[in-house]
Amino acid sequence: MAEQKDDIILSIRGMCKSFGRNRVLDHINLDVRRGTVMGLMGENGAGKSTMMKCLFGTYQKDEGHIFLDGKEVSFTGPKDALENGIAMVHQELNQCLERSVVDNLFLGRYPVNSAGIIDEARMKKEAAELFRNLGMTVNLTQPMRNMSVSQRQMCEIAKAISYNSKIIVLDEPTSSLTAPEVKKLFEMMRKLKSQGISLIYISHKMDEIFDICDDVSVLRDGSLVMTKNTKDTNMNELIAAMVGRSLENRFPPVDNTPGEPILSVQHLSTKYAPHLQDISFDVNKGEIFGLYGLVGAGRTELLETIFGVRTRAAGRVYYNGRLMNFNSSQEAMEHGFAMITEERKANGLFLKGDLTFNTTIANLNHYKTGVALDDQKMTKATVKEIGIMHTKCMGPGDLISSLSGGNQQKVIFGKWLERDPKVFLMDDPTRGIDVGAKYEIYELIIQMAKQGKTIIVVSSEMPEILGITNRIGVMSNGHLSGIVNTKETNQEELLRLSTKYL
Ligand SMILES: Nc1ncnc2c1ncn2[C@@H]1O[C@H](COP(=O)(O)OP(=O)(O)OP(=O)(O)O)[C@@H](O)[C@H]1O
Ligand SMILES: [Mg+2]
Repeated sequence: MAEQKDDIILSIRGMCKSFGRNRVLDHINLDVRRGTVMGLMGENGAGKSTMMKCLFGTYQKDEGHIFLDGKEVSFTGPKDALENGIAMVHQELNQCLERSVVDNLFLGRYPVNSAGIIDEARMKKEAAELFRNLGMTVNLTQPMRNMSVSQRQMCEIAKAISYNSKIIVLDEPTSSLTAPEVKKLFEMMRKLKSQGISLIYISHKMDEIFDICDDVSVLRDGSLVMTKNTKDTNMNELIAAMVGRSLENRFPPVDNTPGEPILSVQHLSTKYAPHLQDISFDVNKGEIFGLYGLVGAGRTELLETIFGVRTRAAGRVYYNGRLMNFNSSQEAMEHGFAMITEERKANGLFLKGDLTFNTTIANLNHYKTGVALDDQKMTKATVKEIGIMHTKCMGPGDLISSLSGGNQQKVIFGKWLERDPKVFLMDDPTRGIDVGAKYEIYELIIQMAKQGKTIIVVSSEMPEILGITNRIGVMSNGHLSGIVNTKETNQEELLRLSTKYL
């Protein structure tokens, strides 16, 4: 018994946290064993990030105790936590985009040499070593802005590891990582485990939880409802614990009936790298058209080019026979196009605004009475979208920054729904969204298709792209390498097409 007790490196006892009237954490108990990975699951807004922020000192808990290595601790802030052996990779990237990669890595703790001068050589050496361990080659002096979202995520992970912590919290670290990057990350995590380091791993991805976690805990509505060894549980049990009911199917029936071709992309090429090469395809009215491809294949670029935010070198886009070669997102929106972007924090939300602002911003003309905006109408629309999306919040006046990550994503969805677009371009729309809410979003997508909207959806998840589309276009290295009927294809064919132009 005594031996087992020693094995616990982190023990949280009776942790409570409220925001105003909203009790977010209710007497949480959690034990993490040394040298293991503890998975943390739960629906959007269940309290996962809040719990970790209370541990990390970003938030102050209202009640409860934290024991690290048997000693009670309470951190005044992240710096305090870092100095005492706890590091955290946050759900949302928080980087200085104009500063270099190496600067970001050492921000606030620059090593100095004996003369008291910042030791740049040492910084670069240590940084290079870190990235090498993660299997990455990175130009350390380039500004963060030049890196892709997934590379920036890897930088955050490298940074957390570099503190030589006893415990590393990873809050949905893989939501924007590519498959090879996830593999590298897991290798690194296993290495850290073998050094006696413990990790807390938050994810909505079941296969990852079973792959990397020794134990798994589930939070539901601020209560910890289950902790088990991953060997002793299964996917259905976890889902039931999370949503309080079992979920028979992961995908609703795709029972829309696509009509005539309505969106036509002809010989589209882009001016700047990564280049799109002579892409042509038609999408039907009321069709859900998937875009599959390896990362870097050009799927996001294709959506962006159609939406007018990326410069065309050649080609035309027609909707209903009319030319739609947009030169800005504004123009695209005016013609009934909408786009959910890959990187929500930078492109999709005004974090200082409330839900009403964020829901109505893309459609302000719609709420004008004379020259003034009609507040009541805006609030009503927001309340409607909160209902449709089941967004977890106190009301339309909540600041967007007070919502959980997944619920912020739902607000973006609501914003576009409110515009009632004819063509809906979606780049990884369910990223960071829990299993139950994913199902609701799939239903919504199918519903929109039934109303005659045309949908192009990018997803990196094979089951998802096979689960909710009518046809799939596969991209490979800037080319459209094939178009297949979803019902008649399989994973092998998609993979084969995605490597055609490599
Ligand atoms: N700073 C804040 N102010 C007010 N409410 C907050 C704040 N941070 C979180 N909340 C609320 O606490 C609840 C839990 O949020 P949290 O971010 O912990 O969820 P989560 O489990 O991490 O969800 P997700 O999977 O979407 O990331 C939510 O209802 C959220 O609105
Ligand atoms: Mg979260």
